[in-house]
Amino acid sequence: SEQERDERIRAIKAKLGPKLVILGHHYQRDEVIQHADYRGDSLKLAQLAAQEKEAEYIVFCGVHFMAETADMLTASKQKVILPDLGAGCPMADMAEIEEVEECWKLLKAKYNQEIIPVTYVNSDAEVKAFCGRNNGMTCTSSNALKIFKKLLGEGKSILFMPDEHLGRNTGLEWGLGEQDILLWNRKNPGEVKLPETAPRLILWDGFCTVHQRFEPQQVDEVREKYPDVKVIVHPECSHDVVERADLSGSTDFIIRQVTGSPAGSVWAIGTEINLVHRLAQENPDKTIISLNENVCMCVMMNRISQPHLLWTLENILKGKIVNQIKVEEKITAEAISALNRMLDISK
Ligand code: 13P
Ligand code: SF4
Repeated sequence: SEQERDERIRAIKAKLGPKLVILGHHYQRDEVIQHADYRGDSLKLAQLAAQEKEAEYIVFCGVHFMAETADMLTASKQKVILPDLGAGCPMADMAEIEEVEECWKLLKAKYNQEIIPVTYVNSDAEVKAFCGRNNGMTCTSSNALKIFKKLLGEGKSILFMPDEHLGRNTGLEWGLGEQDILLWNRKNPGEVKLPETAPRLILWDGFCTVHQRFEPQQVDEVREKYPDVKVIVHPECSHDVVERADLSGSTDFIIRQVTGSPAGSVWAIGTEINLVHRLAQENPDKTIISLNENVCMCVMMNRISQPHLLWTLENILKGKIVNQIKVEEKITAEAISALNRMLDISK
């Protein structure tokens, strides 16, 4: 039964002690996240992995790119395990390294202006390595503005991958106008009309399949229904949603804002449903609803289930490592500089 499995997970954790650390992203199911030693947004989980010295095993309850990042940041001293290897991120899959190289070739052939490639951590290790070897860096939703401030402030242009929306939202927040932004076309790069002077921001045309389901009229509707509502959304939502919302930020930011608000507050949240439901349960003195009443679930995050978690732990106990995520050394060597540039800026 579910309860027996919970007890078994707790017993194995107690037995392995400091040899095991379980990290959990906020979008994980309750049945999984309750067992996490640490919870966080993508940045916090990456920082935790980078600081981890003691554990031999890091079980990462999240998606594939997060486990890859953790593996690269631990310099492979620890074994990083993803309880279900099928938990990928559709957005990360929208930037294939061959497409990125093609884009870079076309940009380099046209412009002398210095262009810095920045990839959202929701990307393959190969794309991070590409950024590393081209003087670029990674970013998450909690440090994107800091990184844009630095690079745009120095007069550079940015090629931002793979999330069009996080890129546009951050660029406009920094002060760019729509005329400074060029949208790439990854499937038909030849159709992109490159202007004479380099755009300040070139956006890859990737998106999050969960956050694209939030729409601007949902913000108008919820305001009509709850006049005192505060609307808070993740910056993976399109700009027309973000500009109508009161606040936008990473999952950690959303949690801080909602839990820190006074009793009686009304919130409509535009992000993954597990997190919205958990916030509603943990804050019974507030009204907390999803901005989209149709369930917006990240199927990939949800692939990690309690039985999967137990299975990986049972195997560790038997001395058998299943589902280890191990990035090739050559790729890690290049990607690590892109990750470290981000971690240095985020300190
Ligand atoms: P953050 O937790 O960093 O806000 O990221 C959200 C997300 O979509 C991760 O895939
Ligand atoms: Fe990827 Fe979106 Fe799921 Fe995050 S919520 S893992 S960006 S599909």
